[in-house]
Amino acid sequence: MKSRVAFVCQECGYESSSFLGKCPQCGEWNSLKEFKVESSKAKVESKFASMSSGKVKSPKKLSEISYENKHRMSTGYEEVDNVLGGGLVKGSVILLAGDPGIGKSTLLLQVSLKLSKTKKVLYISGEESEEQIKMRSSRIGKNDKNDNFFLISLNNVDQAFDAIDEVKPDVVIVDSIQTMESENLSGLSGSVGQVRYAALTFIKIAKSWGIPIILVGHVTKEGMVAGPMVLSHMVDTVLFFEGEKFTQTRILRSLKNRFGPVDEVGIFVMGEVGLSEVADSEHLFISSENLKAPGSVLTVAMEGSRPFIVEIQALTVYSKFPMPRRIANGIDGKRLELLIAVLQKQGRLAIETMDIFVNIAGGFKLSDPASDLAVCLAILSSYRNIPFPKTVAISEVGLLGELRNAPFYEKRVKQAQKLGFKKIFSNKTHKTLPEVIKSLEGPTKSP
Ligand code: TYD
Ligand code: MG
Repeated sequence: MKSRVAFVCQECGYESSSFLGKCPQCGEWNSLKEFKVESSKAKVESKFASMSSGKVKSPKKLSEISYENKHRMSTGYEEVDNVLGGGLVKGSVILLAGDPGIGKSTLLLQVSLKLSKTKKVLYISGEESEEQIKMRSSRIGKNDKNDNFFLISLNNVDQAFDAIDEVKPDVVIVDSIQTMESENLSGLSGSVGQVRYAALTFIKIAKSWGIPIILVGHVTKEGMVAGPMVLSHMVDTVLFFEGEKFTQTRILRSLKNRFGPVDEVGIFVMGEVGLSEVADSEHLFISSENLKAPGSVLTVAMEGSRPFIVEIQALTVYSKFPMPRRIANGIDGKRLELLIAVLQKQGRLAIETMDIFVNIAGGFKLSDPASDLAVCLAILSSYRNIPFPKTVAISEVGLLGELRNAPFYEKRVKQAQKLGFKKIFSNKTHKTLPEVIKSLEGPTKSP
């Protein structure tokens, strides 16, 4: 068998026929590794050629192109469909990324079980045996007789191709793309060359047969989908499944979507019997029912078009250290430092000698700047040891202590009121952070 040699950049996947010290695409030094490309790749290529039946494409007028919504396939889970923009698009490739153990396989198994009621599903697993998957499906209690759900455990892209050819499924799931390798390339599975080759093969299959393919991708320590950046550029949709391992809430988010919005989220709870959808996620991020303790303040955060009530908890204690600790859990540490500085300077709070801990209840990751005021008030509440029961704060806080407008303000307020929280602080009620502090502490407590 004839073979040729290619050099593939381990950072970005750039391919060159000769060795280069520096990758011309991403600029990384010494990142090109040698791969042997066997000519049996030609075998796969010829299969693709036979599938596309030799038709030569010619340009069409926009008006001649018909578009039907029935190209979308419901996954059976409304939360997943919403994030996708209305279901799976035929011929599209979706990357589902997330930390190991977060529940990607569980989610896709549940989706497969639902889909297979009406469609043929092929689940290709490179991580677990067929028995393990069967065991999990018994655990989630959906083990009813099902002739449309096909499972195969393998690591070889070319065999995966044959399996898809044999089963002719309506949906394919590949768990995970990092475990797929091809003999056509030398190099360990999980290396950029292998991952890229495997992904390209599945993309070609999806496009030529018009079936949706979902690829699972593990995230590396640096928070990147392995084969840094390579995969997310190649696929149509990138979904992220996230949450803290020790809390049960899981959030499905889209980072890129050629066929839908990128800011919708789906909320799930991981339970004893798999994941369940949470359409009514109103109380999810509130820890205590009565919220009477000092240090707890609420905010309404937007995730896409959905408002969530989120509880922010702060704890301030005298520090033993010359450099007091500032620990942020669920919010950005730099943002916390900034808000502490604003509280010190503009709010005249003597917190420079305090250790300050801020935590977001329920494992929510808060990135909405409109939560600034609530973070400040939670710190104030703990520092002064006065509770602000059922208090909601919605505003960004500027460096000068000014309160800024939050987008979707009306929607947020409505959500808070719906849940019975009527005490709301924002730029609509006060102009600056010191004014809010004054009104909360009363005239006797002012500095
Ligand atoms: P898994 O789907 O294997 O994660 P991933 O594919 O992202 O690596 O999920 C594994 C975790 O989920 C594991 O820690 C056990 C937990 N789990 C439950 O809590 N309940 C369940 O019903 C199932 C199936 C898993
Ligand atoms: Mg898994």
